[in-house]
Amino acid sequence: MAKAASALDYRELARRRLPHFLFEYIDGGSYAEVTLRRNVADLEAIALRQRVLTDVSTLDLTTTLFGREQRLPVALAPIGLAGMNARRGEVQAARAAEKAGIPFCLSTVSACPIDEVAQASTQPIWFQLYMIRDRGFMKDLLAQARAAGCSTLVFTVDMPVPGSRYRDYRSGLAGASGFAGSFRRTVQAMLRPAWAYDVGVRGRPHQLGNVAPVLGKNTGLEDFFAWMRNNFDPTVSWKDLEFIRDSWDGPLVIKGILDREDAIAAADLGADGIVVSNHGGRQLDGVPSTAQALPAIADAVRDRLTVLADSGVRSGLDVVRMLALGAHGVLLGRAWVYALAAAGEAGVTHMLQLVEAEMRVAMALTSCTRIDRITRDALVNLRA
Ligand code: GLV
Repeated sequence: MAKAASALDYRELARRRLPHFLFEYIDGGSYAEVTLRRNVADLEAIALRQRVLTDVSTLDLTTTLFGREQRLPVALAPIGLAGMNARRGEVQAARAAEKAGIPFCLSTVSACPIDEVAQASTQPIWFQLYMIRDRGFMKDLLAQARAAGCSTLVFTVDMPVPGSRYRDYRSGLAGASGFAGSFRRTVQAMLRPAWAYDVGVRGRPHQLGNVAPVLGKNTGLEDFFAWMRNNFDPTVSWKDLEFIRDSWDGPLVIKGILDREDAIAAADLGADGIVVSNHGGRQLDGVPSTAQALPAIADAVRDRLTVLADSGVRSGLDVVRMLALGAHGVLLGRAWVYALAAAGEAGVTHMLQLVEAEMRVAMALTSCTRIDRITRDALVNLRA
């Protein structure tokens, strides 16, 4: 395949370029991957309602999220280790996001540290945080995010304990520590010489950029899962979110909501937004797809806060489907990492162009000329 014609084409290009363990980490879900498949299948099954002869010559795809206008109603989702998929990968993706006029959200467990990514773009980035046992470290990260000019805090709540991803054990990313693990990964990297030179050699340092300073030593990939297991705080409760809300003066978004009651609790807490998400099918396998969970949640809280959605979005048509189900905006996860792995910043830019082009066609043929006109009326089965 020479060039990607669709966002999903980048998946195959990424598979060919990445060492096996990195591709599996991005591509995989937890346990038997039922929810991972369900996310995609449920979205695909939603039928758009074609309408004709309504003059759709002018389409407006702009939207305002958390006080800032953006060109498209999408953002790049926080992805752990994303920076390992291309040289200083998060920097490249943040640049592509800026060019496309959309926000980039940096993960706590990114390869590049906050400062490096924030300095690479002139628009403020979003920062994602987990509840970490060491509250001092969290405060420090929040202070760094603020000092780096991050505009929006995305607080992930669906990972008090990490779900098990069988593919990571099979690939050698998880569970194989010490020499055996690094030997397997090195062999896989050597089978991908373009990646090995571009990222393996020229993309150093390879570490968890935000976490390395607290560990007080260089952190390698083998520290990733151990760090998550040992440092994520399973005692986290709504009370702790008050601490977060009070220590962050910008917009606060709670990511990982899949239940109406939790969405209402987030609104009661005063959150500015939620992300309806099952973590891309990477946490509790067997939970509903986002497409299934979203309508009831949107009905309950859409008027009180900004509803974002992710998990299973692989095209511009899927973005339109999520908006029609009630989201104000959509996070793209795997889609941008596949594109980044395949072609760096240019790949992410191209993927976003493809998404925009598909959105335009979907909006034209559902007669929705503006983002806020995309409602359940644009769907055949789920009309209001
Ligand atoms: C981290 O958030 C992951 O899904 O691996």
